[in-house]
Amino acid sequence: MLSGVRKSVRWLLVLTGALLLIGLYLLLTSHRAFALDETGCLQCHGTPGLSKTGPSGQTISLYVSEARVNTAAHRYIDCTSCHTSKPHETAITLNKQTQAEKCGTCHSYQYKLHAQSIHGQQLRQGVTEVASCLDCHSAENNPHAVIRVLEYSAPTYKKNIAGTCAQCHAQEDLMATFGIVEKVYESYMRSFHGKATALGTYKTTELDKATCTNCHGVHDIKSVSDPSSPVAGMENLTKTCVSCHPGAGPEFVSGFLGHKEASPRYVPAAHYTEILFTTLLISVITFGIIVVLLAVRKYIANRWKETL
Ligand code: HEC
Ligand code: HEC
Ligand code: HEC
Ligand code: HEC
Ligand code: HEC
Ligand code: HEC
Ligand code: HEC
Repeated sequence: MLSGVRKSVRWLLVLTGALLLIGLYLLLTSHRAFALDETGCLQCHGTPGLSKTGPSGQTISLYVSEARVNTAAHRYIDCTSCHTSKPHETAITLNKQTQAEKCGTCHSYQYKLHAQSIHGQQLRQGVTEVASCLDCHSAENNPHAVIRVLEYSAPTYKKNIAGTCAQCHAQEDLMATFGIVEKVYESYMRSFHGKATALGTYKTTELDKATCTNCHGVHDIKSVSDPSSPVAGMENLTKTCVSCHPGAGPEFVSGFLGHKEASPRYVPAAHYTEILFTTLLISVITFGIIVVLLAVRKYIANRWKETL
């Protein structure tokens, strides 16, 4: 009787052990395909090095990293939703405007706003240095690595937005060719808003500071000389500040220099006050150092006399 119970306990242990081993085997060997690839495209396109030769003899990579797809915003969308069921019948163009149109087939609202923005208007004129969807939504400019906007690593996450714009707007030479002379990234990072955003932690309560898109808009960014820009003219600018600074009036707003640095020509009062304070600060420190040095000299001279 007792040996019967012992026997079944032993069998139970053997069975549990075997199941655990099988589970472990499956876990380690299973192909962890999180991406929705119902049509098996990754069998070929998941192979690094897959490429084709373009019309002008250049190599076009056709490799789609499964690891990237797994973490992308579109991981639950099958390849054929974007590429049709006959992907090999249409040649890819890899051009910023057609890419935006492709994204726009589903995201028509964002596409429409972008098309009316300074970036989108210029893009349709054939200017390729401006921002298209992937410039702001994928750090690698990869259509298969679009990151959800609220992920910490997303180029669109509040803390990362200034860096995303800086890819282009911190390139002085590039900007000069478009007549944009202000050092917008540098001046923003020096401003109270820039410092506060950079120092802020990832807690949402501390992410209420202003970044580029709070003043300029997101998909509908306008030229600052366009009267509909949220930063054009005192009236629009005041409205923009008031959205976060309730009760801000003309005095509060007129004290704001935008991205401009105070100079003898621009806001001379601020410029000369800055020079005055810098001179004052340097004089006071120099005077302090001289006083200390004199005191030290006197002390050493006295000690020297005592030892004689
Ligand atoms: C049997 C392997 C294989 C499978 C499966 C496969 N492809 Fe391809 N694909 C290729 C090759 C090879 C090319 C390059 C063809 C060429 O040289 O024009 C290509 C080209 C492409 C291109 C570029 C088209 C062009 O000519 O510019 C796209 C986009 C594409 N595939 C998407 C897909 C999608 C989506 C699927 C799944 C529905 C898929 N492929 C399944 C092998 C494959
Ligand atoms: C959300 C839409 C979307 C999904 C989903 C998608 N793609 Fe793409 N894919 C694009 C866009 C946009 C391009 C760029 C096309 C162009 O420039 O004409 C592209 C380009 C490609 C290319 C050309 C090479 C490259 O990387 O630029 C291949 C190959 C390709 N896709 C395969 C796939 C495969 C395989 C899948 C499924 C795992 C997939 N795509 C899923 C949007 C998508
Ligand atoms: C200049 C940068 C920039 C460009 C260009 C851009 N986006 Fe965005 N996008 C953003 C930012 C920043 C957010 C996050 C907005 C927020 O937090 O309110 C966003 C949000 C989104 C969202 C989430 C929903 C929403 O509206 O908040 C979608 C979808 C999207 N963009 C699609 C697109 C498409 C499609 C294009 C191209 C036609 C595009 N974006 C071009 C910066 C950009
Ligand atoms: C076939 C339709 C389709 C196409 C084409 C498409 N998307 Fe999407 N996109 C979606 C859907 C659906 C979601 C929501 C996915 C989810 O919630 O799981 C999404 C999500 C997103 C998000 C995340 C939004 C958020 O709230 O975080 C961004 C950003 C985005 N797409 C940008 C793009 C860009 C850029 C392109 C072009 C390369 C593109 N999409 C092409 C259907 C599409
Ligand atoms: C607190 C609001 C505010 C923030 C934040 C802000 N801007 Fe501006 N921006 C303005 C105003 C106002 C102007 C117009 C006056 C000027 O040029 O200084 C402007 C002008 C510009 C211009 C045109 C400059 C020229 O020389 O014509 C660009 C480009 C620009 N901003 C980009 C950015 C970028 C990129 C960021 C983030 C790194 C940013 N802005 C952050 C308010 C802001
Ligand atoms: C891929 C490069 C690129 C990215 C990324 C980019 N921009 Fe631009 N942007 C440009 C170029 C180039 C122009 C000049 C277009 C023109 O004036 O014809 C421009 C123009 C502008 C202007 C109008 C300046 C004026 O003349 O009044 C503003 C404002 C602006 N961008 C803000 C932003 C903001 C904010 C971001 C980030 C959310 C951003 N841009 C991201 C390339 C970029
Ligand atoms: C997205 C919200 C937002 C927008 C838009 C915004 N600010 Fe701010 N700003 C803040 C926050 C948050 C602080 C930090 C307040 C604090 O911690 O005391 C701040 C601080 C400041 C400060 C320094 C501290 C103070 O309260 O005196 C000045 C000056 C300022 N903002 C001016 C402006 C001006 C001018 C505009 C419009 C061109 C503007 N801000 C637009 C959110 C914003």
